[in-house]
Amino acid sequence: MKARILVVEDEEKLRRVIELQLQSLGYEVDQAGTAEDALPRAAAADLILTDLRLPGMDGLGLLEQLRKRAVNAPVIVMTAFGTVEAAVEAMKAGAADFLPKPFSMDHLMTVVEKALEVRSLREENRALRQQLGGRYDFANIIGSSPPMLEILETVRRIAPKTSTVLLQGESGVGKDLVARAIHYQSPRRSRPFVKISCTAIPENLMESELFGYEKGAFTGANVAKPGKFEMADTGTVFLDEIADVPLQAQVKLLRVIQEREFERLGSNRTRQVDVRVIAATNADLRKAIASGAFREDLYYRLNVVPLVIPPLRERRGDIRRLVERFVHKYAEELDSAVSAISEGAMEVLMAHDWPGNVRQLENVIERSVLLCEGTTLEAADIKLDLTSTAQPAALETAFLPDGVTLDEHERNLIREALRRAGGNKSHAARLLGLSRNALRYRLTQMGIES
Ligand SMILES: Nc1ncnc2c1ncn2[C@@H]1O[C@H](COP(=O)(O)OP(=O)(O)OP(=O)(O)O)[C@@H](O)[C@H]1O
Ligand SMILES: [Mg+2]
Repeated sequence: MKARILVVEDEEKLRRVIELQLQSLGYEVDQAGTAEDALPRAAAADLILTDLRLPGMDGLGLLEQLRKRAVNAPVIVMTAFGTVEAAVEAMKAGAADFLPKPFSMDHLMTVVEKALEVRSLREENRALRQQLGGRYDFANIIGSSPPMLEILETVRRIAPKTSTVLLQGESGVGKDLVARAIHYQSPRRSRPFVKISCTAIPENLMESELFGYEKGAFTGANVAKPGKFEMADTGTVFLDEIADVPLQAQVKLLRVIQEREFERLGSNRTRQVDVRVIAATNADLRKAIASGAFREDLYYRLNVVPLVIPPLRERRGDIRRLVERFVHKYAEELDSAVSAISEGAMEVLMAHDWPGNVRQLENVIERSVLLCEGTTLEAADIKLDLTSTAQPAALETAFLPDGVTLDEHERNLIREALRRAGGNKSHAARLLGLSRNALRYRLTQMGIES
């Protein structure tokens, strides 16, 4: 594929000469007369060639804006004769190279080719690292706190078996990560890993999703379709948000887990499957059983190996290494100059309560790295206030007010969330870190108008 080069130069004649030259070398060229005009086109470029002195925003300003937008195409700056300082400054601000004016077309070509080559090597490296990184290797699960060490030890022990695993823990604690680690550390690792997000499937489609259907099983079933269990044959089924499976489907789920057999909708042929089942939930299944929303027999079938992942605030010892991992990861991914984090910033992070757990910590680091202008993340660079990415509870759940029972407190929190959400249940559920179904279930359970 031809590389695409964006030329930013206010002198029209020079711009035209550069354009013709680059085109004759086989590059695709886009051009802009100002930095403002260049910005929206930068994301599509493989390389940016810009003048330092421009009307309006100058080349340095452009460099800064590009970095903020995580554009990682290399930038070559063209500088006027004799302005070495400006070139140095541009290199400090992240330019890949510079071209002192006037330059010969040969010189232009050499600098462009070199920058593009560095870029493609870097991209290749990144792709390789991602492939080889063994994303679901144990090495990727960070945890040196006593409860996490215990969990990892159990995972190591049970991964090679086919025992059913029930993962419990708040949103963002790492249930997904652990489920995949179990699969990829098992002899089934090269077989399918099929995740089923039970919340995402409408109640009336649940059974056809899980077990598939035959042609003509219902209106619209024009072709037969296998379900998730069939697709996962010889591999692993990951039932995420298991508490949201409707009661009716729970019966069938119980059977397939118990007997490893099922029928497609519209068929009476019994099919056998060989699957390992891993289930996860952030809801309290015992409560759900008490209220009749979850079958007790299914619970016992699932709870063969129970793994409860504690919230991050109960294992603050893991925060430091998680932060280091995420700073490194995002500095690389965003091509940022950030390479370290100050002790002050670390203290802020260690003291925070993390209602959205590891996911929230990761989001905070990503955003902080993205917006950081220096090479070290300082306390002031830590952007804790995330309205769009914060998962649950901006609501204060840390202490139970005097004389209030847990049930009352929960009821108050739900009322408050509904109030803040202007009655919108999906929004309220998000504030509480619950799925919409889980909130609905609590509302009914508590007799709050739903
Ligand atoms: N111990 C850990 N080490 C490294 N990364 C982690 C760890 N725990 C969680 N993460 C990262 O945090 C993010 C959230 O984790 P994950 O999706 O596994 O949470 P979850 O418990 O499944 O949440 P939910 O209940 O909302 O589905 C992921 O990007 C995951 O890679
Ligand atoms: Mg998950």
